[in-house]
Amino acid sequence: MTQSAIPEAINPELSESPEAAREPSSRIPGFYQLTIDERRQILRGRADLTEADLQALERGGIDPATADRVVENVVGVYALPLALGLNFVVNGEEVLVPMTVEEPSVVAAASNAARMVREGGGFQADADDPIMTAQIELLGVRDPAAARAAIEGARQELLATAGDTLPRLVARGGGPRGLEVRTGKHPARVIVHVHIDCRNAMGANMVNTIAESLAERLAALAGGRSGLRILTNLCDRRLVRVKARIPAAALVVKSGAFSGADVRDGVVAASQFAEDDPYRAATHNKGIMNGVDAVVIATGNDWRGVEAGAHAFAAASGHYKPLAVWRTGDDGSLVGRLEMPMPVGVVGGTLRTHAGARLSQKILGPAGTSATKLAMVIGSVGLASNLAALRALATDGIQRGHMALHQRSVDLTREQTKRDGNDGGHA
Ligand code: MEV
Repeated sequence: MTQSAIPEAINPELSESPEAAREPSSRIPGFYQLTIDERRQILRGRADLTEADLQALERGGIDPATADRVVENVVGVYALPLALGLNFVVNGEEVLVPMTVEEPSVVAAASNAARMVREGGGFQADADDPIMTAQIELLGVRDPAAARAAIEGARQELLATAGDTLPRLVARGGGPRGLEVRTGKHPARVIVHVHIDCRNAMGANMVNTIAESLAERLAALAGGRSGLRILTNLCDRRLVRVKARIPAAALVVKSGAFSGADVRDGVVAASQFAEDDPYRAATHNKGIMNGVDAVVIATGNDWRGVEAGAHAFAAASGHYKPLAVWRTGDDGSLVGRLEMPMPVGVVGGTLRTHAGARLSQKILGPAGTSATKLAMVIGSVGLASNLAALRALATDGIQRGHMALHQRSVDLTREQTKRDGNDGGHA
């Protein structure tokens, strides 16, 4: 199909209404039926992409020479699919979501769930300020109570030192926000937390710099010596919260075997199972992370940090819990709520070196320029992925849809094997 053959409903540039072209929707019916080139043409118009951006799509965003400057012992680059999550509306804003993932059906499932949520008005999200916490461990402290008093007495001085360490962050409106003293299980260990607003950065480097800059002074105040100085990935002051309300009618399964109310009740029961049972909660949360990680990776963020934060937060009460829960609303709709840490940034890190990550930011529009907006989009994709999984599990089961999509990659492997004259060679 040439570009001019793309149906009007799919190609906003061909739409009769100039208004529609100016307000691009994330709903693009039939997108999956187009060729890659046709999809790129649509994306190009919507995300204001250049030829160079499209080249980045072709090459995977990073070449071996650049990769060689990013990590050690490089022998090449390793690409993954970059796809678009469709139908997302977050706080009233349409957003096309870049997703990098190797698992079939994650993108389709999240897009499908986002279409249902759209019928209830879209995702409502809010996020904390981007606060990360530096941990400074103090050891050999003979009198922890006196150490606490001395450190708390020097709070203003310590926060000022932390701010002086990162003047550019302070100039951008970020910087140290507070200090806490904790005593650990070990009687001679005192732990100091310094909370830092990282603005649009994920912030690991800045937080670690502050941790190191304060360690010796803290050790002197505590009458001990400094131990570890590093951020905590349990960043429970940097939470995102997302709510979705789906009218029961939007949940109906096409086969007609399940009404909207059946699906709603099944999703609520699945949520309660995860709330009761950590074995189920782990899998429930894996489904959330399917969507979360895909966007975290596409935007060049540290998915190990996001994973560590998510599971530590899930376990923080002492009982591993689901990161999203579902209930029936007063009006009979299905209501989902997600809450989890979301330490992501839109400046620095991989963005400097990876054209694919920069492209993802462009695709996201305003959400690609603000760490808190990005966090809200990622949380929404996590909740959508969870809804899709629970809806499938509570009805036909996961395998039917999953295996249909999985078959495409099996077919591809067969074609490649035939082409390469290679039977795989494994015993
Ligand atoms: C598979 O990648 C994710 C699911 O197992 C999630 C879940 O069970 O909720 C389907």
